[in-house]
Amino acid sequence: MKINKKYIKTLNTALLINGDTLNELPKMESNIIDSCLIDPPYGIGFLGKEWDNFSPKAIEEKVFHHQKIDNKKQSGRSSSMHAGSYDLSLAGARGFQDWCFLWAKELIRVIKPGGHVLCFCSTRMYHRLTVALEEAGFEIRDTLSWNFGSGFPKSKNVALVIDKIMGCPNRGHAIATASTYQVSTGKPLPPGEDLPRYESKTKESKGWNDFGTALKPAMELICLARKPLNEKTVAKNILKWGTGSLNIDGCRIKDESSKELQGRWPANTIFDEEAGKVLDLQSKTNPSRFFYCPKPNNKEKNAGLEGMPKVRRDLRDEKATGVMSKKSVQPQQNSHPTIKPVTLLRYLVRLITPPNGVVLDCFMGSGTCGIATYLEGFKYIGIELEKEYYEIAKKRIQHYINNKKIA
Ligand SMILES: C[S@@+](CC[C@H](N)C(=O)[O-])C[C@H]1O[C@@H](n2cnc3c(N)ncnc32)[C@H](O)[C@@H]1O
Repeated sequence: MKINKKYIKTLNTALLINGDTLNELPKMESNIIDSCLIDPPYGIGFLGKEWDNFSPKAIEEKVFHHQKIDNKKQSGRSSSMHAGSYDLSLAGARGFQDWCFLWAKELIRVIKPGGHVLCFCSTRMYHRLTVALEEAGFEIRDTLSWNFGSGFPKSKNVALVIDKIMGCPNRGHAIATASTYQVSTGKPLPPGEDLPRYESKTKESKGWNDFGTALKPAMELICLARKPLNEKTVAKNILKWGTGSLNIDGCRIKDESSKELQGRWPANTIFDEEAGKVLDLQSKTNPSRFFYCPKPNNKEKNAGLEGMPKVRRDLRDEKATGVMSKKSVQPQQNSHPTIKPVTLLRYLVRLITPPNGVVLDCFMGSGTCGIATYLEGFKYIGIELEKEYYEIAKKRIQHYINNKKIA
């Protein structure tokens, strides 16, 4: 289907497409999208999902295979054969960047001059994504962080691993890291649980008890980029295209204690409840100066999916941080492993979208951005590669439309 200006005019609420973004974006006319809120694969081999696999083999599939499709020479090889493997080598990182560049080049074509993009990324691959957006022609305007308190360190205790290779395994000792959760009980430990210090067992590991390999993950980054203006000033660009600015007042953080004040200026940092509480405790003045957004609960994740079979979700939380919570192992209808909170996406989409704007989300997942967009009164185009997630997204978004839940 050709998505052009005429089609956009007739678009009522949402258009959902089951396909590869690299194949779908070229079907769209230039300069028709007002904003993009995207949550692409992070390029860190999330749970061995094929869509987040950027091993050299998988890159070949994603980047070069796509070029072959362009040339009408499909290779027909299944990329699922590489599922489960991932690679943080230089080649893997470059492959992720090359792949980001391919879709970013299309994104900048379809978005209007002055249109904003907000793009989630992991802390490890953020530089690659940002460079790809910049190389495609976007101006990098800012970096937002979503800070959370529930991450779990994926660290290895050095003394413990030395003992292991010295032939002294550590049965019965649990260390508060993701790699050693299950040593003593076989069950996940609550995130952040303070466990007794590991005591080294061999002379080789002595002195290494305090050493580990990773920090606790406590933020996700979101790149704010803008397609360069086509006119000399923001004002002139807005008059011609409607794009170029941010909805500052629409995203102000209201001070509950004052009716007169319009609220605090939206900042480039966002907190979940737990991180917010820590900040509140440390602050002596009124602390509610940032936007707070908790993780989505199961009710929100599964709304609209009643009647669908419950499946076991992946054993990590929605921030790809390594958290194993009891809740996340319960089977449920929404099988997507990285579901973002509706409240967070509503805030972000409101920030970058002009009135009556059309929002593009070319990595739709289970459709959270589509829900957020609908609730904010904008139009939505979502693209998702996996049929399973596409079907979930359709049902979740439809649920809100049926219930006419609009802000
Ligand atoms: C991080 S998830 C998005 C999750 C979403 N924010 C939510 O709340 O459900 C990224 C999604 O991009 C999809 N994806 C990966 N490669 C894609 C491609 N080439 N075209 C379209 N979708 C793709 C994956 O299947 C995955 O569902």
